[in-house]
Amino acid sequence: MAKVLVIYESDYGNTKKAAEAVVEGVNSVNGATATLKVAEEVTAEDMLSHDAYIMGSPVHMGCMDWRLKQFIDKVCSKLWMGDKLVGRVGGVFTTGSGFGSAGGGCEITMLSMYNNFAELGLILVPLPKCTPGYKDGGLQWGPYARSASPTMEQTGTSKESLEVVKNHGANIARVALATKGKELFCR
Ligand SMILES: Cc1cc2nc3c(=O)[nH]c(=O)nc-3n(C[C@H](O)[C@H](O)[C@H](O)COP(=O)(O)O)c2cc1C
Repeated sequence: MAKVLVIYESDYGNTKKAAEAVVEGVNSVNGATATLKVAEEVTAEDMLSHDAYIMGSPVHMGCMDWRLKQFIDKVCSKLWMGDKLVGRVGGVFTTGSGFGSAGGGCEITMLSMYNNFAELGLILVPLPKCTPGYKDGGLQWGPYARSASPTMEQTGTSKESLEVVKNHGANIARVALATKGKELFCR
């Protein structure tokens, strides 16, 4: 069984909805199971008892939510010091209003989370453009579910944009299953 921890923060429910779509995708894969938690509640023991991590953030001023960075610095840094998570699996997703209609910082938000996951030695799972639903919210780093219309009306994330989010969860679960228990990296 591959255990996937979905870690997120959400003030208005959009990222929570996307996180629930990720969970649905993970649970659709035979042999995989998802746990959903806000970053403030994730402990080092949670990290050690899971095989893969999918982290989702609302875009805040072009960055990840501060509570996710706090989790990285407070919980993950000790695991990083001891190389405890090397060879496990990671992926990211975001939601944002898209200020400026150009993604509003979603790409750099995903890249900064990706960078933290690379520091931990995780196998990073991208989002290939052939993934069903990619046209409605896909970026190569992960899915981006826009929660506002082009005129910035707060519409919430659409059903269409959540399809690729769900498929990203399934992809990561399959990679976690394929790599679980294997010593892939030199130490
Ligand atoms: C403090 C703050 C800063 C934000 N900055 C951005 C931004 O830089 N770019 C963007 O596209 N959306 C920005 N947004 C909009 C949120 O990313 C968007 O509404 C998101 O879907 C909210 O997720 P949530 O419902 O999970 O809290 C910001 C929202 C807040 C509250």
